[in-house]
Amino acid sequence: MLQIAVAGPLGPAINNQQSQANATGEEAAKKSDILDAGIQEIRLEKSNILMLGPTGSGKTLLAQTLARCLDVPFAICDCTTLTQAGYVGEDIESVIAKLLQDANYNIEKAQQGIVFLDEVDKIGSVPGIHQLRDVGGEGVQQGMLKMLEGTVVNVPERNTRKLRGETVQVDTTNILFVASGAFNGLDRIISRRKNEKYLGFGTQRPTGEGRRAASEADVKSQTESSNTAQNNEERDLLLRQVEARDLIEFGMIPEFVGRLPVVVPFHSLTEEMLVKILVEPRNALVPQYQALFAMDKVTLDVKDDARKAIASLALERKTGARGLRAIMENILLDSMFEVPGSDISTVIITEVVVKGDEPAAYIRSSKHSKDELESSYDSGCEDDEEMKIRQS
Ligand SMILES: Nc1ncnc2c1ncn2[C@@H]1O[C@H](COP(=O)(O)OP(=O)(O)OP(=O)(O)O)[C@@H](O)[C@H]1O
Ligand SMILES: [Mg+2]
Repeated sequence: MLQIAVAGPLGPAINNQQSQANATGEEAAKKSDILDAGIQEIRLEKSNILMLGPTGSGKTLLAQTLARCLDVPFAICDCTTLTQAGYVGEDIESVIAKLLQDANYNIEKAQQGIVFLDEVDKIGSVPGIHQLRDVGGEGVQQGMLKMLEGTVVNVPERNTRKLRGETVQVDTTNILFVASGAFNGLDRIISRRKNEKYLGFGTQRPTGEGRRAASEADVKSQTESSNTAQNNEERDLLLRQVEARDLIEFGMIPEFVGRLPVVVPFHSLTEEMLVKILVEPRNALVPQYQALFAMDKVTLDVKDDARKAIASLALERKTGARGLRAIMENILLDSMFEVPGSDISTVIITEVVVKGDEPAAYIRSSKHSKDELESSYDSGCEDDEEMKIRQS
């Protein structure tokens, strides 16, 4: 059977039952030749990918960047909105519909595209609700099985839901699927598997099964422990040893995991990386805020030690690079109120400012003291004009 599948262009001929029935003896001999022949052209099959890693480590960002760079149709789909066919929510075929849309409704092109399934861990089944149908979890995984492997999906043309009749057929055999998810708590499942061999009175019994129990345990342990850097390192080490059975215990069904043969664990971001993320990328946070202040003709100077302090605060928040923005907002909140319409020319952020011990330091353009400034406001617009001249 494998050889039949490998026999590429002749595949459809084999499937054609009718012609097989009418085949003459000669033709039949030819077909058996195909089965025996070892020098058929090898058809390469895709290997779907599963990416997992802590929140805010750049999984979605990677997909978005790829989508911009690659020349093939690329669709990013959110698995959290998907439901089993027939229920309220997005159908699984909508994933392919998005790809078709990105390919400008060119079916040939869409069939060679890439589909990115984001937040795939959220469709993990939760044990305990099996009495009801798990339409958003296991049901979706089951619905995706054939699509991941390669089948012909009927996609409604131009996203019209009403005209049920008008569908186009898209073959998913060559569409690459990249799934990604945070898989919170997977490291605990892995560590449990590794320690399973130790039996006895002292060993801890697992608290439960599945993704909900795993992430609950994860949150509990994270709030208890204090040394974040070390914890991250331990977690990365465990995640690197991930196996299919850990994902199955997490709540993914074995058939689903089996169709994603390449598993890529992402490591968490360290302090140095966070410092780099703060400054280096094209749309990094510090340049963003500098541009914001530049609108008021003010320079924002974030010192090196301050950057380090921001990164270490973000590390403690355990939300990855997302924590950086929250911290920056906090630090600059007061300055953003004070700067517009004032004579401040530079805002300096140092380590003490980040730690909240002191307010941000300002360099003012004119030599006015604060009292003088206030009096100048009172005395009306003439003084204002004088100030502008002095500034220029
Ligand atoms: N490696 C990185 N380099 C540069 N910026 C990053 C990196 N990782 C994260 N970021 C920043 O953090 C933001 C959030 O990252 P992203 O959306 O990729 O997280 P995620 O891994 O998808 O997390 P989640 O599992 O919660 O969806 C990005 O918009 C980006 O600004
Ligand atoms: Mg994401």
